[in-house]
Amino acid sequence: MYIFIWIVAVVVCIYAIVKFIKYRPLTPFMPYKYNFGKRRITFRKTLDLLDKTNSKIIVETGTSRAGLKGAKGDGAATIVFGKWAKENGAYMHSVDISEESVRGSQAEVNAQGLNEYVTVHLSDSLVFLKDFKEKVDFLYLDSYDYSKDLEVQRLSQEHHLKEFMAIEGQLHENSIVLIDDCRLPNGGKGKTVIAYMLKNDWKILIDAYQVLLVRKGFKF
Ligand SMILES: C[S@@+](CC[C@H](N)C(=O)[O-])C[C@H]1O[C@@H](n2cnc3c(N)ncnc32)[C@H](O)[C@@H]1O
Repeated sequence: MYIFIWIVAVVVCIYAIVKFIKYRPLTPFMPYKYNFGKRRITFRKTLDLLDKTNSKIIVETGTSRAGLKGAKGDGAATIVFGKWAKENGAYMHSVDISEESVRGSQAEVNAQGLNEYVTVHLSDSLVFLKDFKEKVDFLYLDSYDYSKDLEVQRLSQEHHLKEFMAIEGQLHENSIVLIDDCRLPNGGKGKTVIAYMLKNDWKILIDAYQVLLVRKGFKF
């Protein structure tokens, strides 16, 4: 009888561990029900670095149009990093060219009580970034949607490079850069901008579905 109970207990534990690993939540920071899938490890590491570097200004290109419902598909970064901003006296700017995306993101920002810590700007990211005057502690590049179409891939890669170049002057020696949707055919959104960054004093910390980069002299 005891052996039977032990076997059931072990099976339940293994099941729970496998489910936890597969489900990839960002608990306890975000509620367990949101599955951050392939972004969980890079989000976790980025949150750790935001803590360590005491980041104050966060800029995201491409906003969380689906709110937290998009945790698995899009990432819901506006809400994840907006929540971090709220809890750490920081501020987040998220910019998007689509009125619909801005509306969707703003609705979730409101629902999560993040209005005082997050502004969702309606603008082309390049225009917004060129005008941005503050130093940026964390830059998250995730705008121009990637697709199977080769021309769209090229335009998306070029756009993310242009975004980086537009804000490059506002990055400092301990800035953090995260680029989404990189492990996709032909290098994903990050291919061109990462090549540029690696030639210009940046190094890769994590190379996964998202690529996390810091400067070679990063102190943390
Ligand atoms: C994948 S979604 C962003 C997902 C979001 N970062 C998240 O974590 O949930 C891409 C967004 O980029 C926006 N976008 C596309 N081109 C843009 C541009 N030139 N400037 C700003 N936003 C752009 C789209 O409207 C779309 O809402």
